[in-house]
Amino acid sequence: MKASNIIWHKSKIVKEERQKLVGHRSVVLWFTGLSGAGKSTLCVEVERELHKRRILTYILDGDNVRQGINKNLGFSPEDRKENIRRIGEISKLMVDAGIVTLCAFISPYCKDRKIVRQLFNEEEFIEIYVKCSLIECEKRDPKKLYKKARSGEIIGFTGIDAPYEEPVNPDIIVETDKQSLEKSLQQVIDYLEQKQYIN
Ligand code: PPS
Repeated sequence: MKASNIIWHKSKIVKEERQKLVGHRSVVLWFTGLSGAGKSTLCVEVERELHKRRILTYILDGDNVRQGINKNLGFSPEDRKENIRRIGEISKLMVDAGIVTLCAFISPYCKDRKIVRQLFNEEEFIEIYVKCSLIECEKRDPKKLYKKARSGEIIGFTGIDAPYEEPVNPDIIVETDKQSLEKSLQQVIDYLEQKQYIN
């Protein structure tokens, strides 16, 4: 049952004041792509580089979040939608807290990603498509999940028997099957510098 009679309680410190305290803008970097495309790997490198530059960061990663707050969710379209919805709401709190929030989720449905984007101002959400062919992801298969999906041990695996809808107009595309990790990292950092999120 939905709660009723809920009234927003305002704090006396606003986001802009928290941002002033940390000395930078807060934003969501949303990494989407197939399993094995390199979302988490790139996320970790971007965070390390930002941390070096004294930026306050936090990573939300599918494999981790699904062991905690989202451990009651599976991989049906409805559960993936709820997974992404909750992450969107958590990211919103983090951005409000002044944190640069890096999210690494397959987030296979355009509609679910759009719902998250709509929680933020235009400049507070950056969609990064971590693009990699299915053939290459399957070749990498770091967790041997593609193998399990092919043998029928996993049902509803993204790219095999569950869809991945490519972003239509992402802010950044990194092609991890065509370029090095260093190049992809540089591409993200260049974007953040150009748009003056960092200097
Ligand atoms: S989603 O689609 O955004 O809700 O998925 P996400 O929360 O990012 O979780 C993806 C990780 O879960 C593992 N895994 C699966 N992925 C896709 N499909 C199925 N059926 C599945 N079952 C388990 C897998 O390790 C994913 O991690 P990454 O880092 O993407 O490889």
